[in-house]
Formats: sequence, structure tokens, C-alpha cells
Amino acid sequence: MSRLDSFIRRLQAQRDCLSAAVAQIRGIDGFVLELGLGNGRTFDHLREICPDREIYVFDRQVNAHPDCIPAADHLFLGEITTTLPQALARLGANAALVHTDVGTGDQESNTRLAATLAPMIRGILRPGGIVISDQALNTAGLSPLPLPEGVKPGRYFMNKAV
Ligand SMILES: C[S@@+](CC[C@H](N)C(=O)[O-])C[C@H]1O[C@@H](n2cnc3c(N)ncnc32)[C@H](O)[C@@H]1O
Repeated sequence: MSRLDSFIRRLQAQRDCLSAAVAQIRGIDGFVLELGLGNGRTFDHLREICPDREIYVFDRQVNAHPDCIPAADHLFLGEITTTLPQALARLGANAALVHTDVGTGDQESNTRLAATLAPMIRGILRPGGIVISDQALNTAGLSPLPLPEGVKPGRYFMNKAV
């Protein structure tokens, strides 16, 4: 498969997982976290599909499209492993949905970062909250959810806080 096809399928999987998760958290109050602002495309999509939720965004720096830059009080700038505990202290364990998309081409470092982030993400989620991730997240208190139809296992991941 060409890298273009693979990229397209990953983004389709991301969008399908986001839609499925938003439907599943309908009865759970709480905010949304976007780990990895990047260009701001997913943040923009989240604003569209979660119009009534607070959305907090994380990145080392802002490199997003000018229309997709969160307000300063909804932006955590710096290393996620530092800013996620800061968010927990400020906002409490009240996330209904977390999306994380911080992977790079270096699988070894992706796996290391995912192992560090998994318990932190679990720690900020409400019971019943959902995390959607580009990397596998394995930690106590996260249970895998079935992927939406058409999403190939391993392309994207969905877990529920139990
Ligand atoms: C693939 S991009 C995210 C794309 C984004 N979802 C979008 O729709 O444009 C990944 C982003 O994560 C950020 N990132 C990766 N590792 C990070 C870390 N350890 N701490 C903070 N930001 C990180 C990078 O700076 C980059 O902007």
C-alpha cells in the first residue's frame, strides 16, 4: 500500500473512531482532550462534533492553521508528560474523551511515549470515558473497545476507562 493510501486510511480510521466515541459518551459529562494539536485539523473536527464540550489541547508548540488555534486558557504548551499532570491538577479527573495522535515515524519512541502516557490518560478519564489513540495503550483500568466497522485492527485504537 502506498504511503498516501496508508495516510488516508489512518485519517478515515481516526474520524470513524471519533464519531463512534462521541456517540458512546453521550451520557457522560466531561471535557475533551486533544493530545497533539499539530495542524489543528482534529481539534477543528472535535469542535464540530462536540460543540457543547470544553476542549483542551496539548502540544510542545503552536504550529496550527490560524483558524484552529485554541484559546490560551484551553492550551497546554510543553512536553505532554509534564502538561498532562498539570491538566489533571487544574481540571480534575473529568475527561469524557481523549484523543492522542502524537506518534512519529520512530516506533520505538512511540511505544515508550505510549507506555508513559497510558496511565496518565487513564488517570484523567472519568469512568466510562473513552480514549482514541494512534498507538496501543496498555494499562490497568483501560479496556479495549471494538473498532467501528471498516477500521482495520492496529490502525487506530479505542479503549474505555473501567
Ligand atoms: C501528528 S501531529 C498531530 C496532528 C493533529 N491531530 C492534527 O489534526 O493536525 C503530532 C503533534 O504532537 C506533538 N507532540 C508529539 N510528541 C509530543 C510530546 N511529547 N509533547 C508535546 N507534544 C508532542 C507534535 O509537536 C505534533 O504537533
